Parts: sequence; C-alpha cells; structure tokens
Amino acid sequence: MNSNKQILLSLFNETHGGFLSGQQIADQLGCSRTAVWKHIESLREDGYEIEAIRNKGYRIVERPNGVKEYDISTGLDTTKLGQNYFYYDTVASTQKIAHELAQKGEPEGTLVLADQQQSGRGRMDRPWFSPKGTGIWMSLILRPRLLPAQTPQLTLLTAVAVAQAIEEVTGITPSIKWPNDLLIDGKKCTGILTELQAESDQVRYLIIGIGINVNQVKEDFPEELRTLATSLKMIKGQEISRAKLVQEILKRLERLYDIYLMQGFKPIKLLWESYADTLGKIIKAKTMHGTIQGKAIGLSDEGVLMVEEINGTQHKIYSADIS
Ligand code: BTN
Repeated sequence: MNSNKQILLSLFNETHGGFLSGQQIADQLGCSRTAVWKHIESLREDGYEIEAIRNKGYRIVERPNGVKEYDISTGLDTTKLGQNYFYYDTVASTQKIAHELAQKGEPEGTLVLADQQQSGRGRMDRPWFSPKGTGIWMSLILRPRLLPAQTPQLTLLTAVAVAQAIEEVTGITPSIKWPNDLLIDGKKCTGILTELQAESDQVRYLIIGIGINVNQVKEDFPEELRTLATSLKMIKGQEISRAKLVQEILKRLERLYDIYLMQGFKPIKLLWESYADTLGKIIKAKTMHGTIQGKAIGLSDEGVLMVEEINGTQHKIYSADIS
C-alpha cells in the first residue's frame, strides 16, 4: 500500500467512524481534491466501503477483513514479533518463504503471511487446506539460543499463545490435543508446524507455521474434512477479524516467549496443561517405532508426553499421531 493511502487510513482511524472532508484530507496529504478522490477510489478497490456525502465528506462504513501490512501494523502491540512483515496474496507455502528469508538473514520476529496458500503443508507432509481470504496462514522466524532438543517446547508454547488469543478475540476456549492441534467441539481449527535449521548443539533458526480456520463455512471445506475440521466463524456464528487475531497471537507469543527465555519451560507447561485435551485419557500414540496405548499422564519438564501402559510401564512420546 502506498504511504498516502496509509496516512489516509490513519486519518480515518482518528475519526473513530466519523467523516473527513475532502479539504481536510487534501490539506493533510498535501494533494489536490482530485487526488483525494483517486485515493478514495483506490481504497474502495481494496474492499473498503466508503460513504460520500456532500458538505460532510467521506466516512468508512465497512473495512475489508484484510491482513495486509497496514491491517497488521496498526495497533500491533509488540516490540519484535511481526514488526518485520511480508504479506503475499498467494504463495505455495509461507513456510518455504520464511525459510528463504531466514537463510538470507531476516531477523527474529519476521512474519510471513499469505491470504492463500496453494501448497500449504502440515505435519507429516500432509497437505494443509488454505483457501483465499478466510484463514490465517502465517510463518514466523525465531532465532532462540536453544538446543535442537528443546524446540518442541516452543511448539507447545505457540499452541498456548494461539489458544489464549482465540479466547481473547472470540470468547471461545479451544483445547489442545498433544502436541499442537487446537480443537473446538472435538474438531480441528488450528494446526502448528515447527521446522528448524540447526547445528548439532545450537538452533540456527526456527520457523513456526500457524494455520487457523477463521471464517470458513462448512461448505468451504472439502467433503473429507467436514467431519474433522471447523472454523471460528462456524462456532461463533459471526465473522472474526483476522487482523485482530494475528495481532493478539503475536502479542501473546511475544509475552510467553520472553517468559520462556527467562524462566524456562515450567510456567509454559502449566499453561499448556490448563488447555490440554489429551491428559488423563486413554490414547493411542502412533510413533515411528510402533503404537503405544495407555493413559496420557502428563508432560515431562522437557515438554515430552508421558504415557503409562496398563501394566505400569511409562513411555516418553517425542513425536506421534494421537488418537
Ligand atoms: C498441522 O499439520 O496441523 C500443521 C499445519 C500447519 C499449517 C501452516 S499454514 C501456514 C504455514 N505454511 C504452511 O505451509 N504450513 C503452515
């Protein structure tokens, strides 16, 4: 978005839904009335509904549910996360772009977000359905000084941050299915994919990919996903602001990340457990080495799932599909 349009949107913001006269805008932007009209038209093309009334001026009646730079940066309450922002209308996968940017040296906190992904990917190389304009498809670059073995803790931390943000913005409390699926009414609304580049003893960077079904309706999902997936709009019964949710996620993530770097995993573990859907239940964990069935008894201090078989044998589950 060009800077005049950004300034114009800031001016509208300051009126809190009121009118701005053509002359006021022209004075502020230092441009002609004709140029003002062109900026207004261009905002309309971006999806803004703008009322124009003789002798009063212009007023924004409705904003698009957008996630472009301006939508995210206005009112973003973070010092690091999301301050460096890359937005795309369509990409193959934001993970791929975030990896490229991280390799080029983009700093910690860099956010890549797309309105649509054509080859969104999930855990275990599964495809991730990422249609246009309805979800949040984002990847964040972090550069923590951690051992590679500690990074699953950041996935759990991310799940807590997203759960808190969903709660704050929608009033809905999701549950977390280990390690990082967010469920509402037993259906998946969010998936998290953490990927890393590391030496044997040091993480170089981490890409945290977050996919949230926000404003889809049932018919938007392919048939095979309809019994498994849900969206926030389907639960809440109303459209949710994607920008607000992204901002809230970044804020929560930054807070929890700072706590984690200063105090370690313990406080995060307690929060994770408060949202956990898996604990106390009999589960089947399909790991690379076979299937373990038993009771999920808790998280270890490193963030590993502890499962106890009926004969009392305890297992640590590092990575698995849980059912
Ligand atoms: C899962 O399998 O549950 C994880 C899904 C992660 C999807 C997100 S959407 C943004 C980012 N880009 C991708 O291609 N995947 C992640």
